[in-house]
Amino acid sequence: MSEKLQAPRGTFDVLGDDALARDALVETARRVLEPAGYARIETPAFEATQLFARGVGESTDVVQKEMYTFDSGESESLTLRPEGTAPVCRAYIEHGMHKLPQPVKLWYLSSFFRRERPQKGRFRQFWQVGAEAIGSDDPAVDAESILLLSELLEALGCRGVRLRIGSLGTAETRRAYREELQTYLRAHEAELSDEVAGRIELNPLRAFDSDHRGTQAVMAGAPRLLDRLGDDDAEHFATVCGLLAAVDQAYTVDDTLVRGLDYYTRTVFEFSSDALGAQSGVGGGGRYDGLMEQIGGPPTPGIGWASGVERMLLTAAGVPAAPPPLDLYVAYGAPERRTEAFRLAADARRAGHAARLELGGRSLKGQLKQAGNAGARYVAILREDGTFLRDMETGDQQQVEIDTVMHHIGQVQL
Ligand code: HAM
Repeated sequence: MSEKLQAPRGTFDVLGDDALARDALVETARRVLEPAGYARIETPAFEATQLFARGVGESTDVVQKEMYTFDSGESESLTLRPEGTAPVCRAYIEHGMHKLPQPVKLWYLSSFFRRERPQKGRFRQFWQVGAEAIGSDDPAVDAESILLLSELLEALGCRGVRLRIGSLGTAETRRAYREELQTYLRAHEAELSDEVAGRIELNPLRAFDSDHRGTQAVMAGAPRLLDRLGDDDAEHFATVCGLLAAVDQAYTVDDTLVRGLDYYTRTVFEFSSDALGAQSGVGGGGRYDGLMEQIGGPPTPGIGWASGVERMLLTAAGVPAAPPPLDLYVAYGAPERRTEAFRLAADARRAGHAARLELGGRSLKGQLKQAGNAGARYVAILREDGTFLRDMETGDQQQVEIDTVMHHIGQVQL
């Protein structure tokens, strides 16, 4: 026997109840986002590697370690998309969407690829629901975007969800702040953990996440980015917070919130859930006012978020989605009636009923059992001695003319 093949590490098949739950999630996302003016967009599963190198940032883990990059066989290097914001911005430029009324609001449900170490809630191919609002820097767009993700998580029944928000200001503010923080850390180097001390040059912000006592004491007195924001950025952030408060959206300001992608400016936010393990982030995003220029477009502000489908399902209450109803199951006991049975099922579907034909080669008894398991409301039984219609709710069975079956099932349903 040849070797058994399995789905690649970090990937999975979607089957049964899981598929139903995902369908229900997509419908919920549509119901939350489309009334707010978001239109669906889908972009290709792979893009020019340059798009992510320039958009997401050369120094990020995503670009340095996690991309599935391959040779296209032509001059261009291609990469399976690790995220959706840079591709949506690329599409915005390519289709001249700046000519549309701004902001342009787009949502997606797509799969993404990152070569990460798989664990609970972390995969190498995963799905995200994402929403991007491009073309306005109004703080109301930020607040609305955050609120929509909150509404989506609530509509899905996600448990233990908390929202943290922060502001990163501009790239210049961050650069100056980083230097200030490095100077502060160097002055306290002896009190820091070896790990934090060793990363002062590379990633000084990580020091805020340390669980080392001495480091925590030092960080309690460290300068904070939020205190260094320019006046415009500080006012923008205060307005976003004020709008969230105005609609009773709970949040905590986290002035050490760091996101793994380089394009963020001003507002950043993350929803996390205690129901998840180490990978507690359910969804997050922020403003990316410099991204469009980085990938060759005109200066255009934007904000958005993405939320992991698998993580949302893990945190949701786990109400099993109901299978679709089945109006009619067509069973037959005589092989010579197969064509009639086939036609009855097809006609019923054309008339808008959910109808299924026996295809498993079962005995008549087996077929009736199967109809019961499938939750059929009616079963049409085509036998040698006539056609019978069984009402599965009452158990009543009556002989009918085959061309009146639809009338019977249609009439009772009215
Ligand atoms: P991100 O934080 O990298 O942001 O990913 C968003 C969400 O995708 C995470 O919160 C998580 O739920 C899910 N996710 C990420 N990696 C994995 C993985 N390996 N396995 C399972 N789920 C995962 C972005 O991707 C940005 N594009 C979000 C954004 C949109 N910012 C502005 N607009």
